[in-house]
Formats: sequence, structure tokens, C-alpha cells
Amino acid sequence: MRRFVIVLAAGLGTRMKSTRAKVLHPLLGRPILVHLLEALSPLGADRTLVVTGYQADVVGPLLAPFGATPVLQEPQLGTGHAFLCCRKELEEEGPGEVLLVAGDVPLLPVDEVHAFWKAFSEASAPAAVITLRLGNPFGYGRILRDGRGEVERIVEEKDATPTQRSVAEVNSGVYLFRVPSVLALLDSLGRENAQGEYYLTDLFRILHRDGSPALSFEAREPGRWLGVNSQADLARATGVLRREIVERWMASGVTILDPDTTWIEPAVRIESGVILHPFVRLCGMSHLSRDVEIRALSVLYDTNLGPGTIVKEYCVLEGTQAGASCFIGPFCHTRPGTILEERVHLGNFVETKKTRMGVGAKANHLSYLGDATVGARSNIGAGTITCNYDGAKKHPTVLGEGVFVGSDTQLVAPVTVGDGAYVGAGTTVTKDVPAGALVISRTPQKVIEGWVARKKERGMVKAAQGAKEEG
Ligand code: UD1
Ligand code: MG
Repeated sequence: MRRFVIVLAAGLGTRMKSTRAKVLHPLLGRPILVHLLEALSPLGADRTLVVTGYQADVVGPLLAPFGATPVLQEPQLGTGHAFLCCRKELEEEGPGEVLLVAGDVPLLPVDEVHAFWKAFSEASAPAAVITLRLGNPFGYGRILRDGRGEVERIVEEKDATPTQRSVAEVNSGVYLFRVPSVLALLDSLGRENAQGEYYLTDLFRILHRDGSPALSFEAREPGRWLGVNSQADLARATGVLRREIVERWMASGVTILDPDTTWIEPAVRIESGVILHPFVRLCGMSHLSRDVEIRALSVLYDTNLGPGTIVKEYCVLEGTQAGASCFIGPFCHTRPGTILEERVHLGNFVETKKTRMGVGAKANHLSYLGDATVGARSNIGAGTITCNYDGAKKHPTVLGEGVFVGSDTQLVAPVTVGDGAYVGAGTTVTKDVPAGALVISRTPQKVIEGWVARKKERGMVKAAQGAKEEG
């Protein structure tokens, strides 16, 4: 039997109170819809259709990596209408089974879905709905059953009577259908309801009326099937996933000092022996090798750290590659294109961008290094700045190996300093410096003996000192 998946993702999501389509809201760094498509991919469906509408131009490009086909729903007249929009595609595919999922269920547990689908395939009912039993069923369609316990219909929150609202069994928004038989029923859907929409859920009333009621499967872990309809739901779903990821890494040997404040995005990889301090955030495709330590309040984006590297407090590392045993921070900002070889030290208030630091190179205090190459064992003094931008273009700075750069140096790019050269403190380097040379551009120091006393006689220094005391 051929197996198809339909994801409904055309709605705005009014209750999010945001102009961004609901399925585009990020949950631990990636859109809700991407989480769902990833969860569904192990099912290996023959065809996946995603109904798009609101912000279809942004939703559409997310589908390609999953081999899913967008189906435009314009205007969006309800979930039943969204299903109807897929009819032509499904008719062309021929007989099969469809898993239809609301696009706002990011944590869908695929193993359970798989088991329900298997049970559905073995039965002969035309449809099935996955139900949840919730302590607070507010907002969900309630499952109403007849005297024999069959699904009689699903009534939406806004259409339900107070008695119906007290029903705890709800519609998860995930269904299984046999096609093409169910497709013929879509023409019977009306929009005489509180929201004036074509409700997909009305199919269940029609099936029951026609004497072929749908099956129902009750989910074991309702928490994973919850729809995201509001910002509070999004935060709750984020909390569930965040906690799961943290627990998984602890189980694999990562020390997480405060699991309540650690954020690790799904694609991050961490080797055992790593220590994460409170309030650490690891984002994107970051990778931490064994024995890395990340201290409190540091954030990593797409950053790769070699074994034993230590990131001290309050650092932001973006698109950075670091080798083994580096020391970074506190208060460092490494920007994309930063490459640190082994045993590099970056200290307080150092910013780097498109900069390579060779083995054992150090920049321990207050520096900006942009578009620079710093050779092995070179030492960058406090307050060193690469002047890499002339207002129109960026230019490179190249320092050889073992270069000593004194404090408060400006390197005006493009410029090269050869191996082993010394740059005197306070120098503005504007021309290339050969290997082994000393370069110094400091204004010669002037000492004027007895100057203060002479000025005092004329009352000038006294006035200045008086002002200082008062101030
Ligand atoms: C829906 C169900 C409800 C169920 C709940 C589970 C209906 C009428 N109600 O309600 O019984 O308990 O899901 O989460 O189906 N969408 C479209 N096109 C549209 C309208 C919606 O693609 O015209 C998409 C939305 O983008 C969303 C999904 O369908 O991803 C569900 O829509 P939503 O508005 O969230 O429905 P609920 O009110 O949650
Ligand atoms: Mg919903």
C-alpha cells in the first residue's frame, strides 16, 4: 500500500498574535514546521505534501531538504478546505493511506505514529483519529462517542456546549485516511459553524452517519502531541524539548551543572567529559570535543572546539573553529571566520573576525583582530587594533611567527610584519616590517625639569589643582 503524508501549514495562527506564520516560529533555533518534517522523515512516505498559504514564499523553501511538495491553499478556508486542496495530487497518486498532521505539532513522537499507522493498515476503517486525554482540554476539538463507544463526531471548542466542553478526550489533529474513498466525502463539508470554516473534523460525523465510523487511537504521552496555538504553548513545547536534549546529553556523559538553565539546540554535538556551567547556550551546528569546559553565560553559534579548550564566562563565539587546549575569555567575541589553532589564548575584551591565530599565539587583553593572520607563538599586547577597513574595503594584516606586538599598537592594513619582529608599544604600523626588525613610531618623550614650580609661581598650576579638588 502506498503511504502519503499531508502537513497542514497554511494558516496564520491568529492566536500567536504575531505577523509571522505560526509554523515559522522558532523552537530551539528552528521553525516548528522543520521539527515536524524531521520527526516525520523516518516514516519514509512515498509522497509528502505540505499545504501552504500564509507566507507561502517563506514556508516553501523549507520543504526542499525533506523532498516535500508544497500545495497552495488560497484563501485559507479551514482545515477541511486544506485537505481538499490536496485532492487532485492524491487522485493522481492512486490508492493509498494518508497520515494527515496539523503543522503545529512540533514534537510528534514518530514511534507512536508508526505503531498507529500499522494498526490502521491492518484494519479496514476508512479513517482514524489520534486522541489525547487532557487535564485541561481547552481549545481542542472534543471527541463525542455514541452508545457503543464509536467516534460519533468531533466538536470544536467554539461550537461546543458546556457539557461537551467537559469531555477530556480531544482530537490531536493527527489522522489516518484511506484514499481515494475518503476524498469523495470532502464535497459534503459545510461551513455552518462558529468560525465559518470548512472543518476537517466534520468528516468524522459524516463517516459515522454513513455507518462506517472512524477508529481512534489514544496517545500514551499526550505532552508530545500538543499543538502550538499561542506563545505560551510555544514556550511549553520549547521547555519539553530543551529538557529532553539536556537529559540525553547527561546520559551520554556530559556534565551539565544546571540542567534548568542550559540550552542546547538539536543539531549540536557534544563529546563526553565536557562540562557546561549554568546559563550556557549552544546553538546551530556547534561541536564540542572531549573535555571542553564552557563557563557561565557563554553562547556558541556554529562553533567547533577542540579537546580541552576552556571558554570562560560571558563569551559569544560565532562561526569559530578552535583547536585543542585553547583559553578563550572572559568577555570575548569571536566572529565568523575565526580560526584558532592549538593552545591559543584570547583574553578579556578581545574581538576577532576572519582571523587565524597560529599555535600558541596570544591576545590577552582589549584587542580587535579583523582579517588578520597571526603566526604561531606571536603575542599581541593590550589594546592592539587592526585597522582593517578604509571606509570602502577590508584589508589583511599578516603577522609572522613569534612576533611581539607591544601595547596600544595600530596595524594599518594592508600590512605585514615578518617573523620574530618587535613592534614597540604605541606604534602605528603603516608599512611592512621585515623579519627580526624593531618598529617604533612613538613621539619622542620630552621631560621639562622644574616646569611645575615655574607654572605655580605664575598661578597657573594652582588654579588647575584647585579645580581638580573641587571637582
Ligand atoms: C485543530 C482541530 C481540533 C484539534 C486541534 C489539534 C479543526 C477544525 N480543528 O484545531 O479539533 O483538536 O487542531 O491541535 O481541524 N490550517 C491550514 N489551512 C487552514 C486552516 C488551518 O493549513 O485553512 C493549518 C494551520 O496552519 C495549522 C493546522 O492547520 O497548522 C491546524 O489549524 P489550527 O488553527 O491550529 O486548528 P486548531 O484550532 O488547533
Ligand atoms: Mg492548532
